Amino acid sequence: MLDVSRNFFGVTYVKKFIDRMAQYKLNRFHWHLTDDEGWRIEIKHYPLLTKVGAVRGPDTKLPFTIFPAMRGPKNRVQRGFYTQSQIRDIVAYARGRCIEVLPEIDIPGHAKAALVSYPKLLTDPKDTSRYRSVQRVANNTLNPALESTYRFLDGVIAEVAALFPFGYIHLGGDEVPKGAWEHSPAVKALMQKHHLKSRREVQNYFFARVDTILAKHGKKMVAWQEVLKGRPKLRKEDIVMAWKSPQAGYKAVKRHRKTIMAPVHYLYFDQQYTRSKHEPGHTWSTPVSTRKTYSFDPGSSPYLIGVHACLWSETLLNEKIADYLAWPRALALAEVAWSSPKQKNWVDFKRRMKVHALPRLKLQGVHCRPVD
Ligand code: ACM
Repeated sequence: MLDVSRNFFGVTYVKKFIDRMAQYKLNRFHWHLTDDEGWRIEIKHYPLLTKVGAVRGPDTKLPFTIFPAMRGPKNRVQRGFYTQSQIRDIVAYARGRCIEVLPEIDIPGHAKAALVSYPKLLTDPKDTSRYRSVQRVANNTLNPALESTYRFLDGVIAEVAALFPFGYIHLGGDEVPKGAWEHSPAVKALMQKHHLKSRREVQNYFFARVDTILAKHGKKMVAWQEVLKGRPKLRKEDIVMAWKSPQAGYKAVKRHRKTIMAPVHYLYFDQQYTRSKHEPGHTWSTPVSTRKTYSFDPGSSPYLIGVHACLWSETLLNEKIADYLAWPRALALAEVAWSSPKQKNWVDFKRRMKVHALPRLKLQGVHCRPVD
């Protein structure tokens, strides 16, 4: 997964990223296209999503004062999005390399960029809820009780479904902030009408409805593990991504949910390799060394359908940092994905990295980190 919302990466870099994935047999490119800090995919029916929602900084609706590029300059405007024709080009490029592209539209939380673009469609004017996400972004969540929310999502999903031939669309579902919806009269009315007793049930209602929209457009859903809270009415083919721990993944498997393992302590490549002020990357979880990634054993079950690493981009101020955080950890991911635990051998892997992979990547212009 590459996050292009927090910091934007152009077409050339995305293609290079895809080339390197193909070289090491990573066959699904999860493209995190929207978040609080920017909406990065052109939607013809909703042009303000990119006109307003893809630009942040002074004098814009997404100012750096609320969304600092972490450790980056705060007084500059940052912008960027992909046109539909660029998206088609990238999807075809990836397909030519046996990689399917999974687009993510992160809802209902992580949606500040959409909300500032279309406030009238997406907010209940009488909602007095005030809340912040774990990343400290204020009031960033779609309202699940407005018909206009579903009309909007239907329009967005129709275009996304037409652009991406892969059978799945990722709809996020992570980190809906506490306090969202709390003082929305529309949500109160919705709860009464449908006998929903808790926030969780409201979220379940929301995802059941958006899953119906996906079905109408011939797609199935991927979502982060939070969608499994409560009793969501999802389809059997829908997939969850377990990110908080391997145990969260096993729990989903027990419930006979198709599951992808993306546990933060092993597979979050936005985290530092080691705890040091000289290392780039995030520090909110534990460090993730290449060896730690290599040690991950996802287990086996017919419901465990893959492993997946996340390159969130809050601290990715340039392509060099992105390269550094991805490589060589992505080499370890490839072996975790395709080798049985019995075949794995850290010493041999380290030797092969040193002799083959790292010199090759260097020649290809990748700014790799040395092996730990
Ligand atoms: C996540 O890290 N919020 C999926």
